[in-house]
Amino acid sequence: MTPRILVLNGPNLGRLGSREPEVYGSTSYAGLVERCATVAGELGYQAEVRETNDEGELIRWLHEAADGALPVVLNPGAFTHYSYGLRDAAAQRTAPLIEVHLSNPYAREEFRHTSVVAAVASGTIAGFGIGGYELALRAVAERLATS
Ligand code: DQA
Repeated sequence: MTPRILVLNGPNLGRLGSREPEVYGSTSYAGLVERCATVAGELGYQAEVRETNDEGELIRWLHEAADGALPVVLNPGAFTHYSYGLRDAAAQRTAPLIEVHLSNPYAREEFRHTSVVAAVASGTIAGFGIGGYELALRAVAERLATS
């Protein structure tokens, strides 16, 4: 069976393509799903790409990943900046977890300069648009190959 990587997206990310394209790019969410599937496939993994506007659902998915030792690529959206519940769920990880942002939050409004998730992630990739998801998938594969 092909090993899985969960690609989890928080609030408003399902609206990619139409949401502030000057900030987040013009690729649609469907385009993101396709790109992740292709890249993961090339790396020998199956990407399971999900999105939710619901904090509890995102937390439950992180529990699922922790229980199943599943690697995670996580874009928590705005939850990044204030959700301690999400941070505590990410801290339970049992496999690599890479935090991804399409934009570079450090070059934006001050409230985006804090990530409560970063300290419990394996690493963070920000500012490279949807290409950041590809970098994160490669980082997960490399981390798993060398661990
Ligand atoms: C984001 C950055 C967050 O500040 C914002 O709330 C998002 C998207 C990004 O991918 O750049 O929803 O996580």
